[in-house]
Amino acid sequence: MTVPAEHPHDEWWRRAVIYQVYPRSFADSTGDGVGDLRGIRARLPQLAELGIDAVWLSPIFLSPQKDAGYDVADYRAIDPLFGTLDDADALVAEAHRLGLRVIFDLVPNHTSDQHEWFRAALAAGHGSPERERYIFRDGRGERGELPPNNWQSIFGGAAWSEVPGEPGRWYLHLFDSSQPDLNWHDPGVRSDFLDVLRFWLDRGVDGFRVDVAHGMIKADGLPDYTPREGTGSMGGTDGTGEIERPPYWGQDGVHEIYREWRAMLDAEYSGRVLCGEAWVEPISRLADWVRPDEMHQTFNFAYLETAWDAAAVRRVIDESIAAFSAVGAPSTWVLSNHDVVRHATRLSLTGDNPQGDGIARSTPGLPDEDQGIARARAATALMLALPGSAYIYQGEELGLPEALDLPDDSRADPTWFRTKGEKFGRDGCRVPIPWEADAPSFGFGPTDASWLPQPESWRRFARDAQAGDPASTLEMYRAALRIRRERRLHDGDIEWIDAPSGCLAFRSAGTTVVTNFGDAAVPVPAGDVLLASGSIDGGLAPDTTVWLG
Ligand code: GLC
Repeated sequence: MTVPAEHPHDEWWRRAVIYQVYPRSFADSTGDGVGDLRGIRARLPQLAELGIDAVWLSPIFLSPQKDAGYDVADYRAIDPLFGTLDDADALVAEAHRLGLRVIFDLVPNHTSDQHEWFRAALAAGHGSPERERYIFRDGRGERGELPPNNWQSIFGGAAWSEVPGEPGRWYLHLFDSSQPDLNWHDPGVRSDFLDVLRFWLDRGVDGFRVDVAHGMIKADGLPDYTPREGTGSMGGTDGTGEIERPPYWGQDGVHEIYREWRAMLDAEYSGRVLCGEAWVEPISRLADWVRPDEMHQTFNFAYLETAWDAAAVRRVIDESIAAFSAVGAPSTWVLSNHDVVRHATRLSLTGDNPQGDGIARSTPGLPDEDQGIARARAATALMLALPGSAYIYQGEELGLPEALDLPDDSRADPTWFRTKGEKFGRDGCRVPIPWEADAPSFGFGPTDASWLPQPESWRRFARDAQAGDPASTLEMYRAALRIRRERRLHDGDIEWIDAPSGCLAFRSAGTTVVTNFGDAAVPVPAGDVLLASGSIDGGLAPDTTVWLG
């Protein structure tokens, strides 16, 4: 995709590689086992040196941490677990000094039940304006003893809880019962969020990832809805390609909200961005989130969810570029985040793996670790050659696989509790990352403490064990990011070319990219090897990508 003249290159987000920091698991400065802002700040030079353009921080706001900070009690305060407002300011300043932009994570679909609005709503009682900020309804059944409709929480169980002390009255929570959904028809909710955006933009934050950006408006009348079998919890297809349209996802009314935010950014905060977490399919519909007067970017979860299969990958790339170009937005690409099984494991799983359910050692069809890593490296090398913007999740540059042996009593994901252990949830991708092979907690912090235990086998993935080794995953990421920038692959225009059987090959920005998805080695095409995700001595091996100049 060539960047049209009307999109000048100072629109940094069109090409940015954005690194997701999961604050509680990135770097701990205090030794309490939970990562924090000072820890992140101290490690920023290593991120700058990796060659990324921006960092996105998962939520750092005041929170009871029932859903790892995605349950916000005060959108204008930093959780003491992570530090202070001064620490946040210092982190943003240091990132800017290093040439990195900083994106915060805004959670507008729901608050924590500890937010002053929800406390006020409970205290003010039925019919009060305070209750209008949330979605309170009377129950069904003779005495209102049944929830107002049949919606299920994404984390398991009913999406409604009874108001404490008020039998027959209920409030909606699409996620945990501690995360009541806001009513975005309420003008006070809308205006307060504009103020929250300003609060952080005025402090220099470069934009927001918008959590559950497809969920803020629910269908009128809150009609019953039963997802079809096999549909991932965040929506999507049912496995047969049929698109699901739940009454709580992707309602038209959400777009008005983003238009209002975008107008404010354009008028007063040019260069700042909105990136939507919208689990909507197909991609042509997802592109509505990034129309010229809405968000700048949206995560391409269709890409993330695509199986390791040449034809499927080619199809999703074509569909993405066509759909996003049609609205003048950059395509984005992502393989891992804090909600999905790490791609060093996921791409090689042979069994089912619905988003959010999680896996563990007992899950059937687990891959051999090294094969999983080879495939992940090939997938990343392919992704980083694509035009547009890409997201990287902390630890993937080390080749980290999913942690499979977490003790049950260490698990913290609400999914684990709400399904009574039937689903493991997302903790396996959230384990604190290893920095130094021979330090306590592998250098995550100054002590052995780690809020989720780190697998002993992660010693070999430590950053210092990889740095300087050209065969390591870390050095592959570094090289890929450097070459991507030098050759302007982010501005490339993909042209598919003939490829050996089982392979995908394209030319973009004067570079040939070939990935072997098959199960036999093929000859390496002619050209200067710029990057190889694995050894190419005996030809282009299965699960390997090569870039040629
Ligand atoms: C988003 C977040 C996820 C969180 C959920 C509820 O999907 O990425 O981690 O649990 O929203 O806020």
